[in-house]
Amino acid sequence: MNRRHFLSKSTLAASGLTILPSGLLRAQDGPNSKLNIALIGASGRGNAHHGWIAQESVVALCDVDEEHLVHGLKKFPKAKTYRDWRKCLDHPGLDAIVIATPDHHHAFISNWALNRNLHVYCEKPLAITVEEARTVRSNWLSKKGKLATQVGTQMHAQPNYARMKEMILDGAIGQLQHVIGWGNRKLPRSGYLKAEGKPPANLDWDLWLGPASEHPYNPDYFSGGDGGSNCLKWNMFRDFGVGQMGDMGSHMMDMLWNGIDASFPTSVKAAGETFNPEVTPVQLEAHFEHPANDWRGPVRLSWYQGGVLPRMPYRGINADAIGHGAMFKGDKGFIIADYHNRLMLPDAKDGDLTYYTPRKTEDQLPAISSFHQNWLDACKDPSKSTCCDFEYSSQYIEQMILGLVAHQVGEGFDYDGKTGNTSNAKANALLSREYRKGWTLNG
Ligand SMILES: NC(=O)c1ccc[n+]([C@@H]2O[C@H](COP(=O)([O-])OP(=O)(O)OC[C@H]3O[C@@H](n4cnc5c(N)ncnc54)[C@H](O)[C@@H]3O)[C@@H](O)[C@H]2O)c1
Repeated sequence: MNRRHFLSKSTLAASGLTILPSGLLRAQDGPNSKLNIALIGASGRGNAHHGWIAQESVVALCDVDEEHLVHGLKKFPKAKTYRDWRKCLDHPGLDAIVIATPDHHHAFISNWALNRNLHVYCEKPLAITVEEARTVRSNWLSKKGKLATQVGTQMHAQPNYARMKEMILDGAIGQLQHVIGWGNRKLPRSGYLKAEGKPPANLDWDLWLGPASEHPYNPDYFSGGDGGSNCLKWNMFRDFGVGQMGDMGSHMMDMLWNGIDASFPTSVKAAGETFNPEVTPVQLEAHFEHPANDWRGPVRLSWYQGGVLPRMPYRGINADAIGHGAMFKGDKGFIIADYHNRLMLPDAKDGDLTYYTPRKTEDQLPAISSFHQNWLDACKDPSKSTCCDFEYSSQYIEQMILGLVAHQVGEGFDYDGKTGNTSNAKANALLSREYRKGWTLNG
């Protein structure tokens, strides 16, 4: 058993151990004590985490850009700095990490951290291959109840998500038939950027590449600035991300999965612009069949992006103007939503709403008052669950990646979520990838 995490209050109680003087028990052993946190990715999206992690002890900062470490030190002057996350994870006494690096490191860091018994908060997308998603999930399931995980789909805590789900559960749109997510971002690229200039002295380009194949440096990968949207400069390149499927797709799939209590799809098909081995497609649509669960029948799930938009049930509603949205279609009507808003559109014939009574306040689904606190609370008491743990979040990203695989092979296929196999040999060969020498996914 590894140190403090397995000395949680419940374990102690069960074993009859008493709390020894300092050194044996650490932060999460008491709900009021502070966690020792490392922030990996100190600037960019990392900035959005500076505020809420400051209530704990931020003991380490890790970034491949020296200037970003200097920036992070202004907020957390006592933190020790690291360039290589593999070394950061061995920081003495670490309890938990927050990952805000580029996507191609997410599953790696998550696995390494779980294997070291650290709590993990990871930005979306959690993985960029099916193998990565499944490895993280398997590591998480082996630690569930002892650690806490959360993927950064923070909009999940918006009350809109719970209100939509209540409407669906209570039959406002009748029997669910089809749920649809879409995003209208268009970031076309023709291929990896050509070599241009030398990496600045403050940037460790080799560590930025990490497990990805060798690519030459180009300053345009960094031209998006430090505001948390530099990801739009690299996430469409296949070695670094899964494009909008993982970017806004993570947020919209979270909304859909939450609304329908999904499990793995049983079939996948996709169509879009011509396949490019270096860059993920801008224009794409993917369709999946989801089996019935204990409260609804089978449901089709579709995703549209990059200019292909779903047809709206009423011409007065503009999917493009909504930008990133979700639609739930039942046999009595539609709910059309973005993060904060929902429109209910009863079917002209059957949707008279006499069959539907909105919930009383006391019967509403419990509120998630703070997405980040939801994770911190579970770090301090891992018997508590989080709303977007690695089991839930790894499944919808696995589904989205399967959509990209179907686009690549140009054929639909069946999927067995238990074994992780498709019915298509060409697709099965695309579920994992080779990494650069020296990088291990599950280290
Ligand atoms: N949840 C959300 O709503 C949301 C919003 C924006 C971005 N994001 C996610 O945040 C992540 C980062 O996006 P970004 O736009 O900030 O990117 P970015 O390119 O600005 O990188 C973020 C930080 O990570 C550092 N970094 C890069 N490689 C690293 C490595 N190997 N080890 C340690 N640090 C490293 C960078 O120097 C930078 O400080 C992406 O995965 C993105 O999807 C999520």
